[in-house]
Amino acid sequence: MTDFDDRLRFAIDLATEAGVLARSMRQGLGAVETKSSIDFCTAADLAVEALVRRRLDEVFGDPVIGEEAGGVPAELVWVVDPIDGTTNYIHGMANWCISLALVHRGAVEIGVIYAPDLDQLFVARRGQGATLNGRPLRTSGLRHGGGAVVEVGWSARRPLALSLDLITQMIAGDIEFRRCGSGAMGLANVAAGISDGYVELHINAWDALAGLLLVREAGGWTNDFLAGDGLRLGNVIVACTAELTERLLALGPLRSVA
Ligand code: IPD
Repeated sequence: MTDFDDRLRFAIDLATEAGVLARSMRQGLGAVETKSSIDFCTAADLAVEALVRRRLDEVFGDPVIGEEAGGVPAELVWVVDPIDGTTNYIHGMANWCISLALVHRGAVEIGVIYAPDLDQLFVARRGQGATLNGRPLRTSGLRHGGGAVVEVGWSARRPLALSLDLITQMIAGDIEFRRCGSGAMGLANVAAGISDGYVELHINAWDALAGLLLVREAGGWTNDFLAGDGLRLGNVIVACTAELTERLLALGPLRSVA
């Protein structure tokens, strides 16, 4: 039988250890590899992913799919982004994190997101809720009384015009948009009720899975990201406080998600 409780405790310690390593490597970062005009990889991304892989292998013998070194789907597999929000990390901005998700038989069982500069540790366990630094999380329910605020991610993996169209339609529909540079943190903020939604026309599984579990466990709505081979290929993502679902899915570029 798989021991998810042991793995959850281990993932929390591991994310914290990874965060310490990433912060220690920030000075004198050295070469930055450019994957695309907005996609970078630093020595810290590589070192953190290597650390995570080594620890999970030593203790559990578990396989990993990671942003930097890849991997293949398995019955039980960790899905890891060593640094999500690499551009923010490079620039000295605080919105970046380590994201660890455990997928077992097609379900995300564990999600841990650690943002070292913000001292924020988000934890979700399927069926048992989501927390931030130990406090239970709920999505906003639009109870703040202001207009809806939704973060929009984008990348060169989809035509820019489609993301611009999405933003235009959001503004026309009285939904404010933000772009903060880390998909995982964008999702964690939805779970925390700080923002009302996160959408992106394509995002990879390592950016998304831990955050998606957080949103669901905090009572929010998400699309079925793993459908259509989302684990290997990535997918469109819509995650929001449940009260906003209909309005988001009515927007042209998101209609296919409904
Ligand atoms: C990126 C960030 C960004 C999102 C992109 C991701 P990275 O990941 O999460 O916010 O819009 O889709 O690729 O490169 O910082 O790990």
